[in-house]
This record gives sequence, structure tokens and C-alpha cells, in this order.
Amino acid sequence: MHTHNILEALPQKAKHIIETTPDPQDCLQKIARLLATEVEVYDWVGFYIADPGGKPELHLGPYVGASTEHTVIPFGKGICGQVAESHQTFVVDDVEAEENYLSCNIHVKSEIVVPIMRGQEFVAQLDIDSNTRAAMDERHRAVLEQICTLLKPLFS
Ligand code: SME
Repeated sequence: MHTHNILEALPQKAKHIIETTPDPQDCLQKIARLLATEVEVYDWVGFYIADPGGKPELHLGPYVGASTEHTVIPFGKGICGQVAESHQTFVVDDVEAEENYLSCNIHVKSEIVVPIMRGQEFVAQLDIDSNTRAAMDERHRAVLEQICTLLKPLFS
């Protein structure tokens, strides 16, 4: 299958996982696995969750890929922390060009972080790293934003 079709098929597959996986942690793990497996250029796929106690920090949730030292990220720090404040998708074509960036490992070249909102409330985010430069274009962004919309009900 061409990348285009692989991407287009993802929301439907994600929907199926959501409908058949009652446990939210399991569900996020399966979604991360789906994305990491289906899309060749996704080398690290995971979720950061806003602190349930209301502290301005992110906690690493389910992920697929190399382990990372960034298990807790303060709002504002790195690409992830910036998205926790802006509530806007952040696409980074070249991580070396970013000053406010937290490196997961030296192989990573590009990154996308998509917020998951429940109404006005920021609840979590999907973070994807690629070892390929500028791996995530507008088509990726559209599909991943669609999936993050589907994931909202998990964070109630
Ligand atoms: N690169 C992210 C940190 C998360 S790890 O890459 C998994 C950032 O700059 O926020």
C-alpha cells in the first residue's frame, strides 16, 4: 500500500481499537502500536498526559519506541511542553533548528505533537518522533488530529 492509503486508513483502525478496548491505558498503548507499526517513518510514538492533580506538567503515558528520560515535562519545556500551553499542533521538520527542544535520542530528526482537548481543557498529547527529516507533512497532521479527536472520550 502507498503511504497515502496507509495514512487514510488509520482513523478507521483507531476507531475500531477505541470501540473494542475498554481500558484507556490499553487503548492508548494499542493506538501507539498501530501508528508505530503502520507508518514506517514513525520511530517513537507515545502519549503525554496532563497531571491529573492540575500541576503544570506532563507525565509520560503509553508509548512505543526507545525509552526516554523525559518522563515528566514541565509545561513550556521542549516541543511537548510548548504544546501543553499553546494547545496547537506543533510540527518540527528539523529538531536541530529548535532551541526549546528536549532530545529523546540522537537519531530523532523531526517531530509532531498534537494536543488532545476536552472542550477548552488540555488533557493529553500525542507525540511522534521520526529519524527522517521533515517526515510529517500536512497529510500526517490531518490524520493525527482526527485520531486525537477520537481519543477525547478516554480522558473524562
Ligand atoms: N522531543 C520532545 C520530548 C519528548 S521525547 O522526544 C519522547 C520535546 O522536545 O518536548
